[in-house]
Amino acid sequence: MKIEFLGHAGCLIEGQDVTLVIDPFLSGNPLARKKPGDIRADYILVTHAHQDHLGDAIPIAKASDGLIISTFEVANLCEKEGARVHAMHIGGTREFEFGLVRVTPAFHGSGVEGGHAAGFIIEFFDKTIYHAGDTSLFGDMELLADLHDIDIAILPIGGNFTMDASDAVEAVAMIAPTTVIPIHYDTFPVIKADPQEFREMVEAQIDATVVILAPGESLDLG
Ligand code: NI
Ligand code: MN
Repeated sequence: MKIEFLGHAGCLIEGQDVTLVIDPFLSGNPLARKKPGDIRADYILVTHAHQDHLGDAIPIAKASDGLIISTFEVANLCEKEGARVHAMHIGGTREFEFGLVRVTPAFHGSGVEGGHAAGFIIEFFDKTIYHAGDTSLFGDMELLADLHDIDIAILPIGGNFTMDASDAVEAVAMIAPTTVIPIHYDTFPVIKADPQEFREMVEAQIDATVVILAPGESLDLG
């Protein structure tokens, strides 16, 4: 199993012949190495409909005959564009062939009228991954960690639109993962952040390993 960082908030998770992609923002992403046509995915998870998250989800889903999993409002938007969708919402859980998905709260806009931004806890075979989406720091991350033994936390550190690196350190303390992957930084000047500094702050205080991935790099989980 491996997790490839696609750039920005985009991650591609592969294992046991299942490919799942989260927030594939490639077109118009100055740091992305892959093009939408390079990606085939069985499942496409979308945290919210801002363009830097919905991104290329619809064309990838249609080209792959993949299933978009998102909140009800975003799923409806994707279905209208011809994608196959499974709508969920905050607090909902459902079993898929790879494992359970829980839609988590995220404190942020949704990019669609009446919607709500989200994150995901994904039990992908034997690993539990928390992709926080675009969010502020919030205390119920601790509750999520009570409900799920989170192995890998994928957290924004860029600030301005989301939590910054020092808030993300607090998030790591609550989530207590083994591994942390920082995302949502450096894509645009307004979210410039230093992931090395984030790593030093986390590893000085918390028993977790920060893995900094450049777009196109992967974390191999065996
Ligand atoms: Ni956003
Ligand atoms: Mn964003």
